Amino acid sequence: MSLTLPESSPLVSSQLGKVFVETYGCQMNEYDSGIVRELFRQEKYDSAETIEDSDIIFLNTCAVRENAHAKIYGRLQSLGYLKKKNPNLVIGVLGCMAQNLGEDLFHQELPLDLIVGPDNYRNLPELIRKIREGERDVQLTRLSKTETYDELEPKVVNGIQAFVTIMRGCNNFCTFCVVPYTRGRERSREPISIVHEIQKLVDMGVKQVTLLGQNVNSYSYEDADFSRLVEDILNKTKIERIRFTSPHPKDFPVHLIDLMAKEDRFSSQIHMPLQAGNDKVLRDMKRSYTKKEYLDLVERIRSQIPNIGITSDIIVGFPGETKEEFEETLEVVRTVGYDMSYMFKYSEREGTIAKRKFIDDVPEEEKSRRLIELVDLQTKISLERNKEKIGQTFDILIENTSKKSKLELCGRSHCGRMVVFPIPENESTDLKDWIGKTVPVAIESATSATLRGKAVRG
Ligand code: 5AD
Ligand code: SF4
Repeated sequence: MSLTLPESSPLVSSQLGKVFVETYGCQMNEYDSGIVRELFRQEKYDSAETIEDSDIIFLNTCAVRENAHAKIYGRLQSLGYLKKKNPNLVIGVLGCMAQNLGEDLFHQELPLDLIVGPDNYRNLPELIRKIREGERDVQLTRLSKTETYDELEPKVVNGIQAFVTIMRGCNNFCTFCVVPYTRGRERSREPISIVHEIQKLVDMGVKQVTLLGQNVNSYSYEDADFSRLVEDILNKTKIERIRFTSPHPKDFPVHLIDLMAKEDRFSSQIHMPLQAGNDKVLRDMKRSYTKKEYLDLVERIRSQIPNIGITSDIIVGFPGETKEEFEETLEVVRTVGYDMSYMFKYSEREGTIAKRKFIDDVPEEEKSRRLIELVDLQTKISLERNKEKIGQTFDILIENTSKKSKLELCGRSHCGRMVVFPIPENESTDLKDWIGKTVPVAIESATSATLRGKAVRG
């Protein structure tokens, strides 16, 4: 997902230098980059317009799959020329790759001064000072049990949509996943601080927030669980739509389904990562549910919220996965009929249980073959599901003009589908008059990714 990240405040002129943060990976990293920007703004650093123009460059990195690592190595090498031009330039690697590889990163002849993990961003200004005083190869990758950056509000806004992190870390230890090692144990933000942050976003014109957490159904602060938090946000703010990502299919809170069913402002869309459709593979992944339990949960959700949009993450070629076991993943994908899925080839990660316990034995060509088959199936299903919507009318929260034309608007339905429609005849063609409005749109045609329609006059 690409985001435009507005600077959180006007530039402050200072002698301290200009900071540039480049983000890789998930939405939580986008949010964390916002935290780093906010921290340096409070310390009176300037923010750089371009990477060439900066005195401090941070790459906020991802470690979830091998290609994420490869991208960062390439990017660091390509920044070498800036270091030659400006010997005082400081380059730092932040985020999950910093935590995962630690000082190994210093042994690879990269133009790199600083390595800082996701729980240590508050120390960044102090570490920059140390580097400027002559210290070399500075590293801080200490995981914290408590750090939630509660009062640092990065305001990661894209038009009328914003992200808010509600919890950090993960205790699940799925065997393929590096996150519990790079982001540490689960900890949740205080509800009141989340509510305040969202209220401020609403005051800035934000209409929709996405609540972020590695595992939102583990949200827990004193006696508040995730459903209580959402109720609090609904009661205490005027936010128009709340979305969230991601829940874990195990221990799915029943109360959450009830809340989604009854609350119009709570988006009827759910990202529920399947990962694999075979029980042995699920067990080896330590996902804590069986195929049947997953399908039962989907049925229960669909029976209470018939128009729910369901999306997924799926891995192919996990160690030991046979062709027959992979076929079961295809079968679940067909049965559920996901609106959309993120699909990946298994990639062995440093420090994970799968790396210690299993051999990465599905050949690369076979992983690619399975991925192509899965992507083909999902694309067909997405198209079918979108075509079912032709003739229906949805309330669309307008986000922007479409990529193709300034005379077309786009936005999402409650169930998370992207809908494009022309600005009605004889109406304003100024985006300002439309953005953030909710308009009923009748769907006329569909591709696997987008629905098209016409605004219905009310
Ligand atoms: N290999 C492939 N995909 C992975 N994911 C996480 N770890 C790995 C890995 N080692 C995928 C999962 C997860 C998503 C964010 O990334 O599907 O849900
Ligand atoms: Fe990784 Fe599993 Fe935690 Fe998701 S729930 S972050 S896949 S360990």
